[in-house]
Amino acid sequence: MSTLRKHNLLSILIFAVAALVSPSEGAPSSKTACAALTKPTIPGASVLSIQSQHLPNATVLASPPLLNSNFTGLDLCSVDLVISHHGVNDRVKIKVWLPSTGWNRRFVGTGGSGYAAGFFEYSLAPVVALGYAAASTDAGLSGDPYSPALWALHPNGTVDEDLLLNFASRSVHDMAVAGKAVAAQYYGKKPAHSYWNGCSTGGRQGLVAAQRYPKDFDGIVAGAPAIDWTRYVVAEQWPQVVMREEGTYISQCVLKSFTDASIAACDSLDGVADGVITDLQLCKFDPLSLVGTSAQCDGGRENITAEMASVVAKILAGPKGPAIAHPYALNPGAALDSLANTTIANGTRVGLPFFVNDAWIKYFVKKDPDFDTGSIGYSAFEAIFNQSQREFGPVMGSYQPDLSAFRSAGGKAIVWHGLADQLIFPRDTVAYHQKVVQTLGRNASAVAEFYRTFLAPGVDHCGAGPTPGAVPADPLSAVVAWVEEQKAPNVLEARRVEADGTVITRNLCPFPSTSRYRGAGDKSLASSYTCA
Ligand SMILES: *[C@@H]1O[C@H](CO)[C@@H](O)[C@H](O)[C@H]1NC(C)=O
Ligand SMILES: *[C@@H]1O[C@H](CO)[C@@H](O)[C@H](O)[C@H]1NC(C)=O
Ligand SMILES: *[C@@H]1O[C@H](CO)[C@@H](O)[C@H](O)[C@H]1NC(C)=O
Ligand SMILES: *[C@@H]1O[C@H](CO)[C@@H](O)[C@H](O)[C@H]1NC(C)=O
Ligand SMILES: *[C@@H]1O[C@H](CO)[C@@H](O)[C@H](O)[C@H]1NC(C)=O
Ligand SMILES: *[C@@H]1O[C@H](CO)[C@@H](O)[C@H](O)[C@H]1NC(C)=O
Ligand SMILES: *[C@@H]1O[C@H](CO)[C@@H](O)[C@H](O)[C@H]1NC(C)=O
Ligand SMILES: *[C@@H]1O[C@H](CO)[C@@H](O)[C@H](O)[C@H]1NC(C)=O
Repeated sequence: MSTLRKHNLLSILIFAVAALVSPSEGAPSSKTACAALTKPTIPGASVLSIQSQHLPNATVLASPPLLNSNFTGLDLCSVDLVISHHGVNDRVKIKVWLPSTGWNRRFVGTGGSGYAAGFFEYSLAPVVALGYAAASTDAGLSGDPYSPALWALHPNGTVDEDLLLNFASRSVHDMAVAGKAVAAQYYGKKPAHSYWNGCSTGGRQGLVAAQRYPKDFDGIVAGAPAIDWTRYVVAEQWPQVVMREEGTYISQCVLKSFTDASIAACDSLDGVADGVITDLQLCKFDPLSLVGTSAQCDGGRENITAEMASVVAKILAGPKGPAIAHPYALNPGAALDSLANTTIANGTRVGLPFFVNDAWIKYFVKKDPDFDTGSIGYSAFEAIFNQSQREFGPVMGSYQPDLSAFRSAGGKAIVWHGLADQLIFPRDTVAYHQKVVQTLGRNASAVAEFYRTFLAPGVDHCGAGPTPGAVPADPLSAVVAWVEEQKAPNVLEARRVEADGTVITRNLCPFPSTSRYRGAGDKSLASSYTCA
């Protein structure tokens, strides 16, 4: 047994004994006024400051896409902490919001997107309005979701490993520790249950907690999780690599023709023509079928050539190579113009790499802000794919499939992913689910007792756009019911409001089942479908 293991066992024993002799330890019983809250203890970090203030009538105005509606009349205790990790020159902000009245005895950690770990009041307002105590953190980063330029590299050009660790995992735990402790002080009792709710980077943070801090959250909602970051993000560059190597950059308009044609080819396979591909296994879409047709574009009709079709086929196939275990590729039905975006520069169509992969390759893999990702061809691609995983996989991959500690702690996770996600590959989420099953004894029903994946047909990244598919309506309540009432989600309720106000409902099916029309009944209602 290693010294480390021994040490861990020893501290577990000491904890167990301490719990026996002092059962009330850590269970405060008197409330503290908001302004009088004191610094919590955060292992591995110093709390540099705490500022707390009662906000009796707080407003958070909508700020799409971060927050789509206004929140007014919030009565809460707002707590701002600044912490710094021992031996690290970082400044991590954590904001905790505690409802003054109507606390539901729950704590929820909220996540970020892109290169931001969280968005403070924009993440907090929707859950605090529901009675949750909640926290958000910037992980000590710039807060800019679009770029890590201000934090990725030290002045000497090496990667700031400490801040990368904050972004990858550490800040999720700090926030959970801080948020729960501050809530316990304020209310005089600990939260009865703790949850995570996030999408994209927020989904990755939730699964990182299940992997590395399995006792932090009783229930986790992880939407479109950016797990396997070190591989999938490099693979997001693939469409640009193909267009460059094949010398064929395709207009957004023509890309849309391919997406539309793939939907037309596969929409009805589930028995319903609703503009949504439900069954991807049966979907056989051949881009070459569009050769000789044309697309109506702004500047007139554009002919679709064999070269364009071949490029789209290569994009949909994804990169292949000895180190590439499964397809890192968009599904038919997903918009191609995010990852394969192009623009006209000086009269010529050129590639426009997506910012997440562009920045990851520049700042982290190449450590060169001036590196031109548009120059990457097939062979350089594979080397970058390998290097990204080799150098950063252990810290940033977030793809550990052993969730046994989370299961033992009683944790429940609802993972969901839009099948028409245009940025993060749903196949990675499915592959992770399969790895979890494989790792935990190859028993899918045993895994379903604590971990379920729901795929949302026709839904784009985090359901943010006007997608034709129904988006999970309230996954947080679903995981709360699973944790607190042992009501496992046999389906995940989803809805979509049409332009004319019609509400479409669907029940998302737990992977590997998929939704099938019963053959009769209103096609806009969930009750007309079954999971098969
Ligand atoms: C709360 O703030 C809103 C504006 O944000 C204001 O209209 C309202 O009068 C305030 N309510 C109280 C009780 O102060
Ligand atoms: C939010 O409130 C602002 C100002 O009070 C208003 O202009 C805006 O339309 C509101 N937005 C939404 C989404 O309700
Ligand atoms: C670069 O700078 C960082 C931060 O000051 C330091 O920790 C690291 O050792 C330096 N690396 C090299 C190769 O100089
Ligand atoms: C597109 O194809 C049509 C029919 O084959 C042809 O007449 C036309 O010249 C082509 N347009 C362009 C811009 O190549
Ligand atoms: C593609 O690039 C154009 C030009 O920069 C931009 O306006 C557009 O938003 C991009 N499209 C997507 C889907 O990101
Ligand atoms: C367009 O051409 C000009 C002059 O050659 C050059 O300075 C500029 O960078 C070019 N723009 C792009 C987007 O390539
Ligand atoms: C990438 O890694 C795989 C597996 O280790 C190896 O077979 C392959 O040659 C590597 N490719 C490059 C370009 O380094
Ligand atoms: C798989 O797990 C289920 C649920 O825990 C259990 O009932 C069943 O016996 C297990 N099957 C096998 C083959 O171990």
